[in-house]
Amino acid sequence: MNILIMGPAGSGKGTMSEYIVSEYNIPHISTGDMLRENVKNKTELGKQAKILMDQGKLVPDEVVNGMVKERLQQDDCQNGFLMDGYPRTLNQAEALEAICNELNKPIEKVINLEVNFDALADRITGRRVCSNCKATYHIKNNRPKVDDICDHCGSKLVQRSDDTVEQLKVRLSEHEKNTKPALDMYSKKGIVVNIDASVAPNEVWNSIKDALGKAS
Ligand code: AP5
Repeated sequence: MNILIMGPAGSGKGTMSEYIVSEYNIPHISTGDMLRENVKNKTELGKQAKILMDQGKLVPDEVVNGMVKERLQQDDCQNGFLMDGYPRTLNQAEALEAICNELNKPIEKVINLEVNFDALADRITGRRVCSNCKATYHIKNNRPKVDDICDHCGSKLVQRSDDTVEQLKVRLSEHEKNTKPALDMYSKKGIVVNIDASVAPNEVWNSIKDALGKAS
């Protein structure tokens, strides 16, 4: 299945993506992760992207469109994919339509996670991420067994540089202004399922499973 997961910063896209890819056995393609990998490796793209990401602003469409096109042509996307954090603008949504048409991989379902501002602020400021394997934790809701250490690989947990309330406000305004039009495009196609993602992770996951149906 070819799936998009959308929603504002901190709504749980990354968290729910882990459940989805394990159930449906498809690759998780996160433009945020791809960009952060470039930042970590200090590539030219990463150096330019970091300035915008640290401000909560979007990276230019042509940069992410190119990354996504290349990624979708890889062999592991033959039987479907889960795209997280892309498209984020109408231009990106139109570019993705063109890529999907060319590769004959139409988007079948769009999961849209909905959460209010206070809950998002709590999730963003409390989030900790493994510096090595990218596993996600929360200082209150999803604590590691040992403080600041990843349960999976033992590496140090860190806070993302854009995880502040100030940057969250910019990210939400970008979402409202730029990403809503992309979501509207999919709503008109009748493939969007809105999910109340303010509840506990297992409840969110149950709603997503209902929306996507059984893995084949
Ligand atoms: P990106 O990495 O995509 O970040 P985001 O969209 O801001 O989303 P987050 O990763 O912050 O949150 P999430 O929804 O995945 O939540 P999570 O599951 O971690 O993008 C970062 C930046 O890269 C952008 O600002 C932009 O600059 C750039 N970028 C990326 N893609 C781009 C594109 N296409 N175009 C242009 N620029 C792009 O959960 C958050 C926390 O909440 C965790 O601690 C988790 O444990 C907890 N939690 C999750 N679910 C629940 C729950 N149900 N109940 C309680 N706690 C929960």
